[in-house]
Amino acid sequence: MLRAESGFSVLSDDYATDPYPYFAGLRERHPVHYEPAIDSYFLSRHQDVKRVLSDHQAFSTETLQVRAEPVMRGPVLAQMTGAEHTAKRKIVVRGFTGQALQDHVRAIHANAAELIAPFLPRGRVDLVNDFGKPLAVYVTLDVLGLDKKDWQQVADWHSGVAEFITSIVLTPERRRHCLDCAEQLEAYLVPIIEERRRRPGDDLISTLCTAEFDGIGMSNREVTALIINVLAASTEPADKTLALLVKHLVDHPEQLAQVRSDPALLPAAIAETLRYTPPVQLIPRSSEKDAEFAGTTVPAGATVFCMIGAANRDPNAFSAPDTFDIHRPDLGTARSFTAAAQHLAFGTGLHQCVGAAFARAEIETVAGMLLPLLDRVRFSPGFVYRETGLYTRGPASLSLDFAPVHEGAPRPA
Ligand code: HEM
Repeated sequence: MLRAESGFSVLSDDYATDPYPYFAGLRERHPVHYEPAIDSYFLSRHQDVKRVLSDHQAFSTETLQVRAEPVMRGPVLAQMTGAEHTAKRKIVVRGFTGQALQDHVRAIHANAAELIAPFLPRGRVDLVNDFGKPLAVYVTLDVLGLDKKDWQQVADWHSGVAEFITSIVLTPERRRHCLDCAEQLEAYLVPIIEERRRRPGDDLISTLCTAEFDGIGMSNREVTALIINVLAASTEPADKTLALLVKHLVDHPEQLAQVRSDPALLPAAIAETLRYTPPVQLIPRSSEKDAEFAGTTVPAGATVFCMIGAANRDPNAFSAPDTFDIHRPDLGTARSFTAAAQHLAFGTGLHQCVGAAFARAEIETVAGMLLPLLDRVRFSPGFVYRETGLYTRGPASLSLDFAPVHEGAPRPA
């Protein structure tokens, strides 16, 4: 077991700057890393991470009671098991599949076209802050049926909620701020929920308000928790994946040229991005009983962090794992967005991402629209690439230059 006294810590500044160089050493020599400051265990091997996420009896989501519930204002999907989980997951899935998905794809295209338009004549955009972040919030607001005019306010509350869930260590001041955001978000949502109960539409909030579980409708508290659950789960990873995809393609001009000339390669490029740099880097669980990994015992009641970034670079799961290659034979693009995925970017098992197919459609739509517009795309002169986040991780910004477009905005699909 690698202990802090050996000099390594996942809480160190060096690790936060770039965790990837540490993964091989962790997997090979310290597959069970204990972090005393937060009394938690970090697992880095693909097989161990898969085991934890698949064995729901031995590893529960109990830890979310303190990590998520206070800002979700109620229990989230990932905390549920059994019939309640299956039923509520099905209800949520209805909001992103079938005809709903087709309608969302049209809205995603229109939103993306509107957001990129002002940057086209300038030939420069920060793909994260000018485009990806607002777009991801717009998309989620559309799914939920919330008014886009409120996006900045909802985005601010959402970032407080996300900070609470994804911070490994939180000061009392930041904790108070995050809880304030959650309370205000709840106060904003409750009148909308009540209105949708009276006059349901075809949005996800209406579906949640009218759906029944065991013959009983959900309370405002339950609906609120599921809305915040979807808001938090869908927004951040989607915008990070888009930025990471474009970053990797700009870094690999040959693969960029191939994707440009054959957009059917986009799903492979997205799947490889998720494998190579998963935006959700850590998934927490609680051990229900003593469990042994590589000769080390993780005691009952411990918090265990599954290191998705390290697992996805495990040579026992993928050949040449540190190479970004959209043509890799072991990628399995089609299954990459399903329960059979070999990469673990969407988790696995009972709580595997409910929005994986939606995320694929979202990113494929947006990247498919952007790439033809961003002719001769490159990093802006002087731009220094930096990623942030231990729990969810992505570029802090992505300043791109391209050939200015003067003909105006792309037309909605
Ligand atoms: C590329 C984008 C995405 C990534 C990488 C991602 C990743 C994940 C991961 C790792 C989990 C598992 C958490 C756990 O086991 O505790 C998860 C769960 C979940 N995701 Fe996603 N997600 C993405 C997009 C989305 C989208 C677009 C939505 C909604 C439209 C969504 C909704 C959810 C929900 C509701 C859960 C909880 C499922 C459950 O507990 O049954 N995600 N996601």
